[in-house]
Amino acid sequence: MPDRTITELTIRRPDDWHLHLRDGAMLRAVLPETTRHFARAIVMPNLVPPVVTSTHAMEYRARILAALPEGAKFTPLMTLYLTEETEPADVRTAFEAGIATAVKLYPAGATTNSASGVRDFDKVRPVLETMAEIGMPLCVHGEVTDSDIDIFDREAVFIDKILRPLRKKVPDLRVVMEHVTTSDAVDYVRDSHKNMAATITTHHLIINRNHILAGGIKPHFYCLPVAKREAHRVALVQAAISGDKRFFLGTDSAPHTDPNKLQACGCAGIFTAPNTMSCLAEVFDVAGKLKKLEAFTSLNGPNFYRLPPNEDTITLIKGDPVRYPDQIPTEDGPVTVFDPGFDLHWRVEG
Ligand code: NCD
Ligand code: ZN
Repeated sequence: MPDRTITELTIRRPDDWHLHLRDGAMLRAVLPETTRHFARAIVMPNLVPPVVTSTHAMEYRARILAALPEGAKFTPLMTLYLTEETEPADVRTAFEAGIATAVKLYPAGATTNSASGVRDFDKVRPVLETMAEIGMPLCVHGEVTDSDIDIFDREAVFIDKILRPLRKKVPDLRVVMEHVTTSDAVDYVRDSHKNMAATITTHHLIINRNHILAGGIKPHFYCLPVAKREAHRVALVQAAISGDKRFFLGTDSAPHTDPNKLQACGCAGIFTAPNTMSCLAEVFDVAGKLKKLEAFTSLNGPNFYRLPPNEDTITLIKGDPVRYPDQIPTEDGPVTVFDPGFDLHWRVEG
């Protein structure tokens, strides 16, 4: 029987191992939504233009630190956007100087602002070998982009066509397959005994493709990789609540203004930063696995990234439905907050 008697839970402060913070007015508007609960985040580099070099990463980090709300203690962990021109020596410097924590691989054209991504994987082999040598993780957007591959198959095909061969060629490379959405990915990560982990988002634990498409199209549930059928969502929940060290939270909170989402060709991305911890507590509680929440949000990520877990804690308290805003205002327009479609009973203190 699931244990649903817990009403208060104190866990180490969580980290977000995949986050989009954007820049400028959007950065200022969304950053407090993350720093309220999270101590660190792996910050995605898909700005326009992308964060490609150690110099870009240093400058972007400075802009994030300048936008922090007063008193916030938050460490942005920067990533470099891998291109076919990335210099191994720059990557090494960035890692060894603590400027960048990981490198991000976007297959060219995979998602929002990924035009400069990688087309020919042999061209980035020297960078990957350097990363393997220094132990720097590669964060992978695991979807092929070929137009003849069905969008619902793109992750599974990526594993077979790109990820397996790449990991055979550079076996010491430490890889995070990000925002996994399929049981294929969960099985692949579970079968990998070394150098492999995966992040799971908040929304992929909650929605399947029916939420996007049945009963009218719901742009606020559209993200990449796109949510798959229910059996895949269930596999993701099983992986998240298992406590398995290879799975941890990366929200992929990806704010876009409503005007940019609600149009004939709307942007991909779901904004979950404000209510992620309440959503996750609900999912773990319903599964009777609240005691595994800390591993997923606060322990497994630092363990893979070889960083200490946070010393301080947050407390989750169960009670009346939590209120959170439907939208966050920004100077560019409102950004809609993820609606899980059910009441959230867990509020965060501390
Ligand atoms: C992300 C974004 O908007 O930057 N969108 C998304 O749907 N997740 C890009 C990404 O991580 O794929
Ligand atoms: Zn993302």
